[in-house]
Amino acid sequence: DNPRFAWRGLMLDSSRHFQTIPEVKRFIDRMAAHKFNVFHWHLTDSHGWRIEIKKYPKLTEVGAWRNQPDYPKKGDKGRYGGFYTQEEIKDVIAYAKARHITIVPEVDMPGHSFAAVASYPRLGGLDKPQHVDYFFTYPANRQAFPSRHGFTDVLCVARPETVQFCKDVLDEVMALFPSEYIHIGGDEVEKHVWKQSKETQEFIKKNNLKNEDGLQSWFIQQIDNYLTSKGRKLLGWDEILQGGLAKNATVMSWQGEKGGIRAAKMGHDVVMSPQTYIYLDHGQSHSPLEPPHWPGHKPLNRVYNYEPIPPQLNAEEAKYILGVQANVWTAFIHKEWKLDLSTWPRATALAEVAWSPKEARDYNKFYTFMKQKHFKRLDYMEINYWRENTIDVGNWSPKDLKQNNEVVTMTFDLTGKVDKQKSEKLDLAFTYTSGAHALRIKEVSLLSGNKTVSVDQHDGHTGSSSKNNIYSVDLSKVQAGEKLTISVKAYGDGGNSSNGKVTLDTILTKRVN
Ligand code: ACM
Repeated sequence: DNPRFAWRGLMLDSSRHFQTIPEVKRFIDRMAAHKFNVFHWHLTDSHGWRIEIKKYPKLTEVGAWRNQPDYPKKGDKGRYGGFYTQEEIKDVIAYAKARHITIVPEVDMPGHSFAAVASYPRLGGLDKPQHVDYFFTYPANRQAFPSRHGFTDVLCVARPETVQFCKDVLDEVMALFPSEYIHIGGDEVEKHVWKQSKETQEFIKKNNLKNEDGLQSWFIQQIDNYLTSKGRKLLGWDEILQGGLAKNATVMSWQGEKGGIRAAKMGHDVVMSPQTYIYLDHGQSHSPLEPPHWPGHKPLNRVYNYEPIPPQLNAEEAKYILGVQANVWTAFIHKEWKLDLSTWPRATALAEVAWSPKEARDYNKFYTFMKQKHFKRLDYMEINYWRENTIDVGNWSPKDLKQNNEVVTMTFDLTGKVDKQKSEKLDLAFTYTSGAHALRIKEVSLLSGNKTVSVDQHDGHTGSSSKNNIYSVDLSKVQAGEKLTISVKAYGDGGNSSNGKVTLDTILTKRVN
């Protein structure tokens, strides 16, 4: 039994939300149980700086805290944040090492740097006070960050003191982390600030750089030289290819696979981490009960079926693929139960991708193993993993509906499909699939024999968007042995061209909201 890949990683974002040391250790325990060996720790970003740097105390005095509307509860304006002291970090590194896991630290530069610029405004080049980024609502329920107009999350790398700051921070990072690889981010740099800055434009001209991409490439090369001189290796997100890849850089391919393919063909090492397959902050079900998540649908089978060696690479080039890593960004993950729910069981699927030979992988076999054995193990480990059990109740189509918004009654047979012993309250979900018209629902009843035993009367709809489309079905008054019928009062909104499905969702997860 040998691992297929040397790099079997998970990334945890501790900036958007802060995890306590015991929470980080639990994350590491669960990784170890699945034979992951790289814990990529995303320690800095615009929403909070999380690592103590002794030379720059404001990074954690100022940059570790954000003014967060609706925190700790709706209507409040609390200060959200936290950071890890160097002593705490040493303890976590030793804890991971004892479990055969290397921690690769990430300090994201030169973008994603609101927290650094809020701490030391000169780093940002606008020379005015700035704030640590925050979410419009807490917990985040939609993909919206506050307006950044007039501010910058990008470091002014044209200033020698900014480059020196980066090196100073990396000195303390390297003193703490024995990892050969040091991740310097490099993603999503908002270069319009560089474009508008006279100082930056003069620097670009003076150094014969082509443009802002050239400046980013120049900056990453400085950092690459520095890390290399200290015997370490620079790792960065695939944007570091823009303007020319630094000489010794390793690329983490997140914007799909193309960055990784390009880097491998250039003879650079690569870790595959494409958001198109294995970003664990994306959704994993079509259940209306799944809590808010980053847009995107990456169910268990998509993660399991991801193949880290792209067919575009020949055998020689394929050797540059060090391995595979899934990332858990925490914009929507404010509590540990939700971290569990986003990470597991999809990380179990990724563990097999990272470990098993390609030929040995078979999703049906894997899922049978999950049902027979592994879900129980995750239960013993007290992981709040995502597990849904969807029961098909029926469908609607144009023949069930009328024109002119006339309300119809549709019935669905539920006999034998539910077990009162297991669950007394179930959620009936209406999900539109196609057609020109939405379905508007008025009322859902449950009949035991001829008797109505449960009614949920409220307006809901499902179409190109859905709202209040879940109805509660109460089984507590159901008589054993009687025929069970779901009766629905609904209409097609503006016509009968509407198709969709009716499901009973039981989420076996311990906590969903
Ligand atoms: C990333 O997801 N911005 C690396």
